[in-house]
Amino acid sequence: MEITIIGLGYVGLVNAVYLASLGHEIFGYDIDKNKISLLRQGVATLEEPNLQSLLTESLPNLRFSTNHKDAIRHASHIFICVDTPQDKDGSVDMKNFYAVLDNIIEDSISDQCIVIRSTVPVGTNKIVKQYLESKSSNHFDVISFPEFLSQGKAISNMIQPDRLILGVNDQKGVALAKEIAQLYLIKKAPVMITSSENAEMIKYASNCFLAMKISYINNIAQLCEKVGADVDKVAKGMSYDPRIGESFLKAGIGYGGSCFPKDTNGLYWIANDNSVSMEIVKSTIDINKSQVEFFLNKIYRRFKSLAGLNVAVLGVAFKGGTEDVRNSQAIPIVKAILEKNANITIYDPLAMDNFQKLFTRHTRIKYVDYPYDALKNADVVLILNDSEEFVNLKPLDFITYMRKPVIFDGRNLYKVESMEGTEYHSIGRPSRVDKVKTRKSL
Ligand SMILES: NC(=O)c1ccc[n+]([C@@H]2O[C@H](COP(=O)([O-])OP(=O)(O)OC[C@H]3O[C@@H](n4cnc5c(N)ncnc54)[C@H](O)[C@@H]3O)[C@@H](O)[C@H]2O)c1
Repeated sequence: MEITIIGLGYVGLVNAVYLASLGHEIFGYDIDKNKISLLRQGVATLEEPNLQSLLTESLPNLRFSTNHKDAIRHASHIFICVDTPQDKDGSVDMKNFYAVLDNIIEDSISDQCIVIRSTVPVGTNKIVKQYLESKSSNHFDVISFPEFLSQGKAISNMIQPDRLILGVNDQKGVALAKEIAQLYLIKKAPVMITSSENAEMIKYASNCFLAMKISYINNIAQLCEKVGADVDKVAKGMSYDPRIGESFLKAGIGYGGSCFPKDTNGLYWIANDNSVSMEIVKSTIDINKSQVEFFLNKIYRRFKSLAGLNVAVLGVAFKGGTEDVRNSQAIPIVKAILEKNANITIYDPLAMDNFQKLFTRHTRIKYVDYPYDALKNADVVLILNDSEEFVNLKPLDFITYMRKPVIFDGRNLYKVESMEGTEYHSIGRPSRVDKVKTRKSL
């Protein structure tokens, strides 16, 4: 199998490096010249655990190029991994995806297998085949192979996938799908070969279900605060029911990232386009937006004015363990706090460079290299993601460094009972307003 991977972002690069590490020769193509130049030098362009070491050791099996002719002509199998972002109206923007198809039409050789790893609207597989074969005299097989990796765990997800879902439309497709699945079956995993529509739908239905679980528990959290319940205890109690389970039941300021926001909007749009009412998905999206307001309102209620206050922000990536700030809930929160004329000091272990690019002209934001430097002399700290470093902070860290340890924890990282000596607010749990300790009172 001669594999070319087109689009070397989270999905494409991780797939390329992983397959190369298994001994396959992989040709990676991307339009981003800077990215290709770094990859050629063996520099991983993403923060993912083990990605850099795997890239270093697999470099002899990897070729990187910005020349689509070379990349496409070389391949028996072309994996499309480009981004399919959200368009202004909520639909899926397929511009990059179609640019790849046009490259394939220009440079194809006969009998190539197109493997769609990008998340694409239901029906795309069949449209792709028609599109390619209407514009080229070559024959193509098209396999839908949605990717389910999770950023921050991408390599371990490759090594041990939860499942491999492959969508095909004929018997030849079944044989091709089996060969492709075999590439990833280093450990045992369920393999489902099904219709292309099923495979495409499984990807959207899975992501939207997970997003819905998050919005559900966040909605419950809002109610918990009104009725004096604790959402963590409620979620724990719910999780003993094996039909519910414990994953994705952590209340917080909502989901972000490049997948859940665009895929919920994408599914809602696809449903509307097919005259199916999917209010459950709409509510998921609305609750997620409202969660930011819910968090901000807690802060506004606590402080008459934020003007001139020193606000420490811990965590700006959409979750811990990644440098990705796409659709991070930190973006609207930092914007809102800036509008209230506060001074903001930000620390994130991985995402500061990316975040900084979004707030270039703001003189009231400072970026620091250590969490303690952010806490130093802060009047309040906002914890916005679940980076390991923040999970390990202790009440004494806040007490020692802050002017007054007032904590707004948007990810419920600490047990309320453990936050002695602080003023501690979180999501869906009772606030703790102790007679707070300060450096001076220690
Ligand atoms: N990020 C995830 O966790 C994840 C998980 C599962 C599925 N997906 C899906 O996989 C797809 C890719 O996501 P991603 O996060 O890797 O995107 P990304 O933005 O990280 O990477 C996309 C890459 O494609 C390149 N590209 C864009 N247009 C191109 C073109 N015409 N030719 C060649 N390269 C081109 C970009 O330069 C970029 O390097 C999306 O459809 C996404 O929904 C993402």
